[in-house]
Amino acid sequence: MSEQLTLVTGGAGFIGCNLANRLLGSGRKVRILDNLSRPGVEQNLQWLREQHGERLQVVNADIRDEKAVTQAVAGTTQVYHFAAQVAVTTSLDLPRDDFLVNAQGTLNVLEAVRARPVPPFVLMTSTNKVYGDLADLELQAVGQHYQPTDLSVRARGVSEARPLDFHSPYGCSKGSADQYVLDYARSYGLQTMVFRMSCIYGPRQFGTEDQGWVAHFILRALRGEAITIYGDGKQVRDVLFVDDLVNAFLLAEQNGGKLAGRAFNIGGGPSNAISLLDLLDRIEALQGRRPATTFDGWRTGDQRYYVSDTRGFEQATGWRAKVRAPEGIARLHEWLQAHRKPVAAPALHVVHAN
Ligand SMILES: NC(=O)c1ccc[n+]([C@@H]2O[C@H](COP(=O)([O-])OP(=O)(O)OC[C@H]3O[C@@H](n4cnc5c(N)ncnc54)[C@H](O)[C@@H]3O)[C@@H](O)[C@H]2O)c1
Repeated sequence: MSEQLTLVTGGAGFIGCNLANRLLGSGRKVRILDNLSRPGVEQNLQWLREQHGERLQVVNADIRDEKAVTQAVAGTTQVYHFAAQVAVTTSLDLPRDDFLVNAQGTLNVLEAVRARPVPPFVLMTSTNKVYGDLADLELQAVGQHYQPTDLSVRARGVSEARPLDFHSPYGCSKGSADQYVLDYARSYGLQTMVFRMSCIYGPRQFGTEDQGWVAHFILRALRGEAITIYGDGKQVRDVLFVDDLVNAFLLAEQNGGKLAGRAFNIGGGPSNAISLLDLLDRIEALQGRRPATTFDGWRTGDQRYYVSDTRGFEQATGWRAKVRAPEGIARLHEWLQAHRKPVAAPALHVVHAN
């Protein structure tokens, strides 16, 4: 059988470069399509290039560019579609751009895949924001966390059976993309799949206030800068270490045939659910002093509680999140401590798509 070539759109980003590294390490060829719009991600490409040399192909192009996407999909056996406008805040300022990148960009990928004589497997990363603000979920504040009063939701989290309720332009654009990806399995028989993800964290994440809060909090604390908490800090998320997510991608691919057309909630689950205030405690334990904080109003669409019920994917593939939150946070802290002063990356050889 000829060598496999995997396309990772948004592959210079945090999740993409972690997956690309694993695939390249296993002997696969990887093609990355990315427009490098996220500050700092050239360093991820440089790192991949240093580890894996010419087995990595880089296409510097925009996911909105239909022709470039069609060319990038050609010859691939798997497509991981991660390129996206990733922040709710930005989507509120620039909803049209957000729509074009997230919704139309995804359609470009699907159409390019559908046109192939042997269409590759497709996995797209969606978000828990497709379930809305979960305002109907009755919560109580206990200590420094919100928790559901319903004991079964508290024990298991939110499952895929939850009705869709897109909130914020980001929720709408990702939700629309999510539905297109699933429908292309239904309407065209493609092997497509969706991960609706909670908070992913880990090395090579350049978190900002707009996205990637675990890395963002640690970075601010390392620089001795105050962290702004929007809301009361008791909001809870299940955090998933990126290595566990990469394991999930590979299992999804292996089981692609039988899982086509399905969406799965993916996160650290109830045993890795932490509040913003819990993360401050962790950072204090790691650094020996409490990070400075200021408090501001709630952000639009912010969920007080979101924890993934991952049993659907676990039952389908045997996957389990292995890295506990305290261990993963310590590992990210160590990585950011070593890499927080980014050095200017040397020029990269990139293929410029027309
Ligand atoms: N990190 C999380 O916690 C999380 C949670 C839920 C969903 N997701 C989804 O996972 C995917 C990857 O997220 P990430 O955390 O690695 O983000 P990231 O910002 O690190 O990576 C996204 C990459 O896409 C690229 N990109 C942005 N716009 C582009 C465009 N128009 N054309 C081509 N490339 C473009 C960026 O340069 C970046 O390298 C995204 O689809 C995101 O919505 C992430």
